Amino acid sequence: MPRTAYVNGHYVAYDEAMLSIDDRAVQFGDSVYEVVAVRRGHLVELDDHLSRLERSLRELRMAQPRSRTALKLIMKEIQRRNHVHNGLLYVQVTRGVAPRNHKFPSAAVRPGIVVTGKSRIDQESVLAWQKGVKVLTVPDDRWRRRDVKSTNLLANVMAKQAAADAGCREAWLVDDDGFVTEGTSSTAWIVSRTSCIITRPLSNDILHGVTRGNLLRVIEAHGYSVEERAFTVTEAEHADEAFITSANNPVTPVVQINDTIVGNGEPGPVTRRLQEHYAAVAGAL
Ligand code: PDD
Repeated sequence: MPRTAYVNGHYVAYDEAMLSIDDRAVQFGDSVYEVVAVRRGHLVELDDHLSRLERSLRELRMAQPRSRTALKLIMKEIQRRNHVHNGLLYVQVTRGVAPRNHKFPSAAVRPGIVVTGKSRIDQESVLAWQKGVKVLTVPDDRWRRRDVKSTNLLANVMAKQAAADAGCREAWLVDDDGFVTEGTSSTAWIVSRTSCIITRPLSNDILHGVTRGNLLRVIEAHGYSVEERAFTVTEAEHADEAFITSANNPVTPVVQINDTIVGNGEPGPVTRRLQEHYAAVAGAL
């Protein structure tokens, strides 16, 4: 089935969708984005994603390209035209097109918007969700505003590739003090030997994960003990369980960190229960 993309006001054939070579996303990574899961036709946590997009734009002093309502309509139209029942929508907003110059272009330059959608075709995420994944830890080389969901992802790309080269699905990024910040495209969690669920608190050190926020509400509603604090690589390696969360990998067990098997090497009971609780509110993968 031919795919359709939305680019700067037009619905176009995906293969013909293009950005100008002077788009600031191309020149500087001067753009922000969101990835929204679609499960059984429903756009999961859509308003939370759009709130974060608006926040990213504000933090980078970029204009809102459209009202939230208008952006939702575009996203739903892309979902409809691409028949996305289970899959992902991608939204990117750039500072616009202007001759290359680091400082902001004039206020007359309009922000650019790209929206695409895809049905999940590979089984990798489902397999990861069922059996768990391996994680490699690497230094966190990113800039300090990781709370902004920018397309400037080179450090994430390098870390993810290092993980792939080591046979791992994700890399956990580690700060200068030996504490895990997050994954290259996911939030990092561990479960202590006393069944306490631990994840790093919100700050500019990490992306404020939408799945993270909603899972925390689920965790609290079910009465689990939870601590928002940083943890070291060693603590994670000796934890009972570990997992990652993101829009496209909700509650995915981590069964190995570097050379260390986590727990008994299988998805742990707390992680399994959280998968069920989360699926009950956000839809199963
Ligand atoms: N990534 N941390 C980072 C660095 C991320 O890039 C992501 C999401 C998350 C999880 O956020 P959320 O729960 O809101 O998806 C945490 C998306 C999926 C991506 O870049 O493809």
